[in-house]
Amino acid sequence: MRKNIVAGNWKMNTTLQEGVALAEEVNAAVKATKHNCDVVICVPFTHLATINDKTCRETLGLGAENCADHKSGAYTGEVSAAMVASTGATYVILGHSERRQYYGETSETLREKVALAFENNLTPIFCIGEVLEERENGTYFDVVKKQIVDALFHLSAEDFGKIILAYEPVWAIGTGKTATADQAEDMHAFIRGVIAEKYGNEVADNTSILYGGSCKPSNAKELFAKPDVDGGLIGGASLKCADFMGIVEAFN
Ligand code: PGA
Repeated sequence: MRKNIVAGNWKMNTTLQEGVALAEEVNAAVKATKHNCDVVICVPFTHLATINDKTCRETLGLGAENCADHKSGAYTGEVSAAMVASTGATYVILGHSERRQYYGETSETLREKVALAFENNLTPIFCIGEVLEERENGTYFDVVKKQIVDALFHLSAEDFGKIILAYEPVWAIGTGKTATADQAEDMHAFIRGVIAEKYGNEVADNTSILYGGSCKPSNAKELFAKPDVDGGLIGGASLKCADFMGIVEAFN
């Protein structure tokens, strides 16, 4: 059966020293707390190796927030999937709306990134979600379906089964405006149906679909209680250990 997962997305926050301290705090808190989910932190590239060495192998999964769409070579400033894997990280967020919006990521580049993640045994946390205009004009189901079809439906069932999806309505990210639990469940159930149509019920049932967008301790329990919401991808609230733990504990 699919896993419940709470994953932090630190984005471009914390210096190395601050990040190591936060990871140590979260690691200790997760270790000391009964939790019914996998807990992952996705952190800046510069922090990965140190956090891997110092803190996180006992209880926390560790991931990057992106990787390059090329294997290696003359791509100044890029960080490859192999480099990420060599730090000890085992997850990578791909297709975050901020990457799509500010850095022009398309389904085409994302297909390359997914392939490179798999080659390096990284588990993609693959983000999808509509912008406000698409929510308001009613095209949001089509938009999300197209994102999944275009970037992922060339995969074999076996490879698709390794993906974690994160539905993040862009209008809810960092805005304090969370999707209601019913809005999240409607979309998650729709996504599971889209997967079932292509890969069958077993693959669909086994795919973890996380919700992201202003998830916090006060709304996590209601969101995670929905049958098709298998956890969260947490931005702002993952930067404070107490808030992040409040969300982790929503599964108890
Ligand atoms: P947020 O971000 O929790 O700060 O809204 C979520 C995300 O972008 O992954």
